[in-house]
Amino acid sequence: MMTLRSDTDWDFYWADVHWVHETFDHVYLQEHQRINHFRNHYELTRKDLLVKNLKRMIKHIHRSHGPTESALFNFLSTSYVLPAEHALFQEEFKRNPGGVWIMKPVGKAQGKGIFLINRMSQVSGWKVKGGRRVRQDDGEGPEAYIVQRYIENPYLIGGKKFDIRAYVLVTSYYPLVIYIHRNGFCRFSSTQFSMQSKDIGNMYIHATNVSIQKTAPNYAPTRGCKWLLRNLKQHLCSKHGQESVDALFTEMEALVVRSLMSVQKVMINDKHCFEVYGYDILIDKNLKPWLLEVNASPSLTAETQFDYDLKHQVLQDMFDVIDLERRHAGKPPRTRVGGFDLVYNDGPVKHERTSSYASYLGCYHPIPRAPRTKRRFGERSGPTAGNVLQTSRPPATPLTSSTASLTIESLSNLGSTVSLNGRQ
Ligand SMILES: Nc1ncnc2c1ncn2[C@@H]1O[C@H](COP(=O)(O)OP(=O)(O)O)[C@@H](O)[C@H]1O
Ligand SMILES: [Mg+2]
Repeated sequence: MMTLRSDTDWDFYWADVHWVHETFDHVYLQEHQRINHFRNHYELTRKDLLVKNLKRMIKHIHRSHGPTESALFNFLSTSYVLPAEHALFQEEFKRNPGGVWIMKPVGKAQGKGIFLINRMSQVSGWKVKGGRRVRQDDGEGPEAYIVQRYIENPYLIGGKKFDIRAYVLVTSYYPLVIYIHRNGFCRFSSTQFSMQSKDIGNMYIHATNVSIQKTAPNYAPTRGCKWLLRNLKQHLCSKHGQESVDALFTEMEALVVRSLMSVQKVMINDKHCFEVYGYDILIDKNLKPWLLEVNASPSLTAETQFDYDLKHQVLQDMFDVIDLERRHAGKPPRTRVGGFDLVYNDGPVKHERTSSYASYLGCYHPIPRAPRTKRRFGERSGPTAGNVLQTSRPPATPLTSSTASLTIESLSNLGSTVSLNGRQ
């Protein structure tokens, strides 16, 4: 156990967002100190602010570049912030009666507080009850929600819905510097997809968060509910050919870049800060990617060796990019660091092609590393860098990596990989 001489006696701080909101403005950091959040990350990661910032960007691009360019930013399903935009939502609902919408509390995660609606009275009912009443800066009020058009035609595999978790590292907003990790995963629902009205309330069908799926009666803990992004890419290639899949993955990268461009102006840039975001993306039947939300604190907990390895790799690559030892200080950002590819450095980055794929997302093949010394999965690791590193508690029950390997052939099992806690 290390004793800190003060609140700021560290080189690297894996802070939770509350520390950032409450303390960051009151500390003076030295040149070399690094912290894992930007001050107002919530402009991107709170659901209502994401909606607001994207709408503003679309208006701006529409005015300056016209409708074709602004249409490129239409990757968030139509959304309204409640209660503020209730009247606008009501008008939209009347234009397409019977459509299905999803209600999400703006500041929650893991599928908490989410439900689907297909009648206006369900919103009114929610409004009357005030949702859950919460304390706000200006007094007590209803908990803010967004209502978002539900994507009724998700791409299904084995009849089941899934969404994608991709890891995105931003090292600076001015200039905007974005890395995307090649590795990521898909989270499957455990229940066959259905849009029948009787199933509207069944969140095991509609919400793919692991925290929800884990409680489904037919959830198999040893198999979990995940695929590696690589498995998805292979599967889609076998169904649709490489060209369409390349277009899809390139579009996903573009979606990430455009979402970050949309908040660049409002973000408080700070040379001490970087951030690893967990992007939740859904693909529809037409192979169009939709952004569901961006998480500031993607879960780093793991319940299997396989999952541990995946997240460990993302973190290790993150440390390599942020370069605490300052080996690359003063040099231009590197275009590839482990599984992270630089996709934007104050402008799109052109990579030398070493693969037939146009996008490296989902092309992750880990380079075998020398075996780590005796420490096994489940044992607590020491700080990786600096004096302070707060990580999630390691899982209690290690599974062998063989239970975690996944092939397209095991599709009927819908994944044999991991099950996780946290914001998934
Ligand atoms: N617009 C949508 N259309 C279809 N499914 C959605 C939509 N929004 C969310 N979902 C489903 O609900 C889950 C939770 O939504 P998300 O926005 O990620 O909130 P949370 O913070 O609770 O994870 C997603 O993983 C996805 O399965
Ligand atoms: Mg989510």
